[in-house]
Order: sequence, then structure tokens, then C-alpha cells
Amino acid sequence: MSPTSPTPPPRKQIHLAAHFPGVNNTTVWADPGSGSHIAFPSFAHLARTAERGLFDFFFLAEGLRLREHKGRIHDLDVVGRPESLTVLSALAAVTERLGLAATVSATFNEPYELARRLASLDHLSGGRAAWNVVTTSDAFTGENFRRGGYLDRADRYTRAAEFVATARELWDSWTADGQPRPIAHQGEHFTVRGEFTVPRSPQGHPVVIQAGDSPEGREFAASAADVIFTRHSGAEAGRAFYADVKGRLARYGRRPGDLKIMPGVTFVLGDTAAEAQEHAAEIRRRQVSPQQALLALEQVWGVDLSAYDPDGPLPDIDPDPHGELAQGRVRIADPKAVADKWRALSRAKGLSIRETVIETTGRQSFVGTAQDVAARMDAFVQTDAADGFILVPHLTPGGLDPFVDRVVPLLQERGVFRTAYSGSTLRSHLGLPEPARTGGRGGRP
Ligand SMILES: Cc1cc2nc3c(=O)[nH]c(=O)nc-3n(C[C@H](O)[C@H](O)[C@H](O)COP(=O)(O)O)c2cc1C
Repeated sequence: MSPTSPTPPPRKQIHLAAHFPGVNNTTVWADPGSGSHIAFPSFAHLARTAERGLFDFFFLAEGLRLREHKGRIHDLDVVGRPESLTVLSALAAVTERLGLAATVSATFNEPYELARRLASLDHLSGGRAAWNVVTTSDAFTGENFRRGGYLDRADRYTRAAEFVATARELWDSWTADGQPRPIAHQGEHFTVRGEFTVPRSPQGHPVVIQAGDSPEGREFAASAADVIFTRHSGAEAGRAFYADVKGRLARYGRRPGDLKIMPGVTFVLGDTAAEAQEHAAEIRRRQVSPQQALLALEQVWGVDLSAYDPDGPLPDIDPDPHGELAQGRVRIADPKAVADKWRALSRAKGLSIRETVIETTGRQSFVGTAQDVAARMDAFVQTDAADGFILVPHLTPGGLDPFVDRVVPLLQERGVFRTAYSGSTLRSHLGLPEPARTGGRGGRP
């Protein structure tokens, strides 16, 4: 290198997290290797695998009501959903360094209660707790709660922002010498008075994650989150999302590195590229059974399509824009546009209903040899399409093992992934500073 050539910038380090796949059709339920989705050994296996792979954190999604389809529990929900912080507390005892992230709705909880549960997990895990703040939007879920009903998007996010700010006041409310100070929070959504029951936790504030894609959601993340869990897993969409969200940080006095962007992604490995593609096609067929195909179609059309043949063409009737067959799922904003797109695809490629659903709902982000996958993930991160990934394996609980055994060593060889944990808290894995102690805005000076 000539003395004038610039030093190449250091390679960005990749962050990795493991999603426990439960109630969705990423899971290949019919696989003989598919185990329990609710028994503790399944959670423990996936978490231990993630820790063996030196991952930043283990991640649990949340559903507060079993989804329904035509008035019956949705096929994929029959497994049930245990409460996340309970599961993570148990995992804290069988892991040592791995971050433990719970998705918990800001719409159906109270800040004092949730801040207390999260601070408790942070204490008993030695600084490994994280909270994925979601804003659950549907009235169907709300029927399970005292406040019930529905908050429109703007209110969901103002409530979430005040929720997180109140939680931070509570987390900050104990003095450095271990004295609780009373807080007096009076806001639009919450009133909290008195001392917090839990001393400041090892991370100061548990890590805050955000998942939600609207402009309001992105702004909220830019103002308050440490990590974003996103669905933008394609390189182009990823780069646009990344630039948009990172561009919002300066308004809040934050730097681009203060917020890590991590899309949820899947992977399929093979000894050759062709074998991986074949395996991926097989997984997709097994994710979308004939019944699943009709169910997916009915979610778009909003009407009963059980008379249609999954191996035949798509219905030529238009969707019912007011159809309510599926409850507990994010509503499709413009079903006619989706139906038109699916019909055009099916006509162009000669696809049946099932093949169309396979093609449109397939979420296989990284398919190839371990070398291909490591190289593509690295390129994805180095070109600012993400800071890392939340991996969603196809199989519970063993689906992450091949990634840890085969891809992690290659990422390490490329110099873009740690070879040992350097710290013990989740903040240290993510390279995030401990938040300054403000003393709580409502606390005594
Ligand atoms: C990647 C991703 C994961 C999500 N996971 C959950 C979840 O586990 N539980 C939940 O209730 N909502 C979940 N949500 C829903 C969001 O919290 C939010 O309610 C929804 O995206 C609508 O808000 P938006 O219009 O800002 O996107 C998720 C959203 C995204 C984008």
C-alpha cells in the first residue's frame, strides 16, 4: 500500500440473534425433527445453540390471543404460546452470556408493572434483558384486556413512546448509592407515583427493540430504540429502510451506531448450491400444505374458498374488502391489489393456487452453501442493508445447529463475527453504551 492510499475502513461486525419459531408457517411441522414448541427443553436447546454460536440474543415474539380463521383457532396456533418473560427467566438459568429478548405489547400493559418485570430479568440474568416494544393493533386481541378495544396507529405510538419514557424514569429512579427516589409521572396515558421496587439493573436500562414499519413506527424507533426488528430482508429494500431509519437519528441527538437494524431472515444450507436450492424448494412445499394454501388465499379474499382446488387456478372473483374470516393477523390494506398481483403472477407462470402461495409467501433469504451464505450475509451488512440478522430456523428446536456449526466459523474467518464474548451484558454484545443515569425526570434532585 502506498503511503497516500487511505486505510480501508474497519469491517462492520455482524450481530446475530435467534428467533424461536412458533406459530407461523416458517416451521416445517411435518418434519420428523420438529419437536415441542412449548416444552422447556425446546427453548433451552435453541438458546444453548445460540449461545454456543456466540449470538447476541435469543428472541421471543408474542401473541396475546390465539388467531382465528372462520371462527376456529388457526391451524398454526394449536401449539399455544407461553408468556415470554417467564420462559426467558428460566433460560437465564441455563445460559450465561446470551441476551434474552421478550416481545411485550405497550398497548395492553402498564409501565410500572412491565418495567419491574424487565428490570427483574435484567438483575437475575446479569444484564441480559431486552424488550421488543410492539403496539398490537387489533381490537380482536384487545377483547382479552380490561381496557379492551382498539387504539389507532397515532395513539398506539404516543402511548408506546410515553410507556418507554416512563419505564426509563423508573429504571433511573434509584440513586448510585442504592436509595429509591420517588417518581411522579403525570402524562397523557399514565400516572405513576412512588418508589420503584427494583434497584437499578446491571444494564441500567434493558435493551429496547422496536418492530413496526409505518412512519410513526420508524420515528418512534429512531427516538427510543436500541435495535429494530424488521421484515426488510431483501438487499435493496434493506438499504432503503436502513438509510431512512438511520437518517432519522440525528433529530434525537443520536449517531447511526446507536441503533442496530436486524431483519428477520431464514437460511437453507446445502453441500452445493443446487442441493441447497432443492432443499429450499422442498421446505417451501412442506410449509404450504394444500389446506395452508387455501387459508392464505382466504386471508386475502376474505371469503370462504373451500370449494376451490388448491391445485387449480386462482378464483376470478374479487376479494370482499370487508371480509373478516381471519382474526388476530395484521390486516391487508388493499386486498384487491394483492389479489390482482397474485392472479397476474399465476397467469404469467402458469401457477396453481398452492404454487402461487408458495411463491408469494416464501421467505427464504439465504440459500446456498455455507460459504455462499456467509459471503452474502457479510456483503449485506458491509453495504448497509442491515447491522445483522434475527435468524428464524425452519425447525424447532434443532434448526439453528447447522448454522452455528457451518456458517459461524466462516463469518469468524472473514473477521466479521466475534470468536468469544468480550463482555457479559447484551449491551456490550451490541456495542451499546450503558445509558447515563438521569435520576428519573420526576425524581428528587
Ligand atoms: C418484524 C415485526 C415483528 C412483529 N412482531 C410482533 C409480535 O410478535 N407481536 C405483536 O403483537 N406484534 C408484532 N408486530 C406488530 C407491530 O408491533 C405493529 O403493531 C404493527 O407492525 C403495526 O404497526 P406499523 O403500522 O407501525 O407497522 C411485529 C411487526 C414487525 C414489523
